[in-house]
Amino acid sequence: MSTPGKPIKRVTTHTLQEMKERGEKIAMLTAYDFSLARIVDDAEMDIILVGDSASNVMAGHETTLPITLDQMIYHAGSVVRAIKRSLVVVDLPFGSYQGNSKEALNSSIRIMKESGAHAIKLEGGEEVVDSVKRIISAGVPVMGHLGLTPQSIYKFGTYAVRATEKKEAEILLKDAKILEEAGCFALILEKIPASLAKQVAESLTIPVIGIGAGSDLDGQVLVLHDMLGINKDFSPRFIRRYLNLYESIKGAVEHYISDVKAGSFPDENEQY
Ligand code: KIV
Repeated sequence: MSTPGKPIKRVTTHTLQEMKERGEKIAMLTAYDFSLARIVDDAEMDIILVGDSASNVMAGHETTLPITLDQMIYHAGSVVRAIKRSLVVVDLPFGSYQGNSKEALNSSIRIMKESGAHAIKLEGGEEVVDSVKRIISAGVPVMGHLGLTPQSIYKFGTYAVRATEKKEAEILLKDAKILEEAGCFALILEKIPASLAKQVAESLTIPVIGIGAGSDLDGQVLVLHDMLGINKDFSPRFIRRYLNLYESIKGAVEHYISDVKAGSFPDENEQY
């Protein structure tokens, strides 16, 4: 928690590299709006991800595919206006970078210019390496994402654990190396066996952050709405719920409705 009067030291990609070298774990959560991002930042989160999971949790889509670049920029700008400390990373949404490296660069530049974010994230390995290099050469830090990459859900056909077979595990290890060599400052591994994730984290010099990838990594990331228990219908085993906000919010809303119906809100102290 930030202490009043104490100067706030911003987290940078260098801070994260130093954390890996010291063996200090990196904490990362998603946020998509000003009010929650302010709380997450004030709690001293290292990285806030404006994830394309906004497509699911904010807009109610079944997948991450429908969210647009303009919508991601809207969410990212709201988060950036709230933060004082955390590094803000923004997902390049589906369809905004797969065409070619120029498209990827243009989308990244729009995110950086129009939202004020600090870095972008994209999904994929060798197939996106030209884009990674081109974005980084323009001065934009890039975070990679391997394993279960939700933008490819229709290729996978299921949200099951990835890279359980030797061939896919070998490709993942190779892709991780390629992304590091291309200059990514960090890598997300989603829903892969813990033993494989450990092997990746040990073989890379950049921070490797996991979601559903075990504990032997340089850091962890979760979707904010999942760990707060706002989404009660989504409960894969890798989520730890720190609150049951669905029930708390519903209870508060029901209480408000009954107060209004009973005429007990507002009372004499709540009026002019
Ligand atoms: O969009 C997102 O929230 C993500 C995390 C699951 C890593 O990419």
